[in-house]
Amino acid sequence: MPDASLVLGIETSCDETGVALARIHDDRTELLVDAVASSVDEHARFGGIIPEIASRAHLEAMVPTIQRALAEADVDLGQVGAVAVTAGPGLVGPLTVGAAAAKALAVGLGVPLHGVNHVIGHAAVDELVHGLFPERVMALVVSGGHSSLLLVDDVATDVTELGHTLDDAAGEAFDKVGRLLGLPYPGGPHIDRLAREGDPEAIRFPRGLTAAKDQARHADDFSFSGLKTAVARWVEARQDAGQEIPLHDVAASFAAAVADVLTAKTIAACRRHEVDTLVIGGGFSANSQLRELAAQRCAEAGITVRIPPIRYCTDNGAMIAALGAAVVRRGLPASPLDLAVDSSMPLTQVTV
Ligand code: KG4
Ligand code: ZN
Repeated sequence: MPDASLVLGIETSCDETGVALARIHDDRTELLVDAVASSVDEHARFGGIIPEIASRAHLEAMVPTIQRALAEADVDLGQVGAVAVTAGPGLVGPLTVGAAAAKALAVGLGVPLHGVNHVIGHAAVDELVHGLFPERVMALVVSGGHSSLLLVDDVATDVTELGHTLDDAAGEAFDKVGRLLGLPYPGGPHIDRLAREGDPEAIRFPRGLTAAKDQARHADDFSFSGLKTAVARWVEARQDAGQEIPLHDVAASFAAAVADVLTAKTIAACRRHEVDTLVIGGGFSANSQLRELAAQRCAEAGITVRIPPIRYCTDNGAMIAALGAAVVRRGLPASPLDLAVDSSMPLTQVTV
């Protein structure tokens, strides 16, 4: 018999096949299991995600990952009461594999299907860790594909996108700088590691969209491509002069610039909207320079900062089960079974 409080979440927007089960309680959402299969190694030699390879990998991993999740949670498939799936944004092919699997399950089990927004899932996953959100929270979602500032009045029904990156996402900028420094893909974690042993004040790199003239139109937007170019220029000039590149200091100064801009703008938005809780999610929230600076500046500003453990920050099924649970908890209608995935699903749209 389906149990209405048991939500299965499926995530396939990029290169991880994520399947999770969450249980809705009156006062919290409990994560029962979070199973992930990744095709990241298959993309490494191309220096970026190849959608076709990711789609095939999802197709191969889907059923085994669902079976593994059910076995680990000791749940029978027939007990699942609702199926939530990433409807977008993301890569069309990978999204389609997940949506097809979710539709098949929903039809076969005779339970509701809920197509949900991946980026909002990156914020919602924190409800599994630190409890249900208070009335109003600010969410900074930073990953390889997104850098977005969201005002969350209700995670299932009322999300406002205050700003986003005008060019590169934070993780993308790290990956590009990683490439120019000769680091393996994805470069983000390598720069983080190098930066921990460098001097963040060694080189003063530019802080995009922080000038007074940008406040009117782009107070809550980000831009990292100018910073990336500045790092490239600095490195080239050194190389042309036959000098060695101080990798640790370049990494530390670059990482400091990104963390400075992200935290300064986010805290300013919290003040402007009188929000005292900040949730940080997305793969880039694993970044130690961002975590440290956010903790320090939020403490100074009297803002409670909630960042889930790193395994819930990268793409996974838990974030989709968490958002699906929030949707079910509010009794919202199911998505149609002919739901189409949307590679550029707007961030104001939580559900389909
Ligand atoms: O959310 P995610 O797993 O996938 C996307 O939806 O993009 O984020 C992955 C991104 C990559 O760009 C990766 O380099 C970056 O997050 N990243 C990091 C760190 N860990 C992951 N960037 C900087 N420091 C890290 N520790
Ligand atoms: Zn993501």
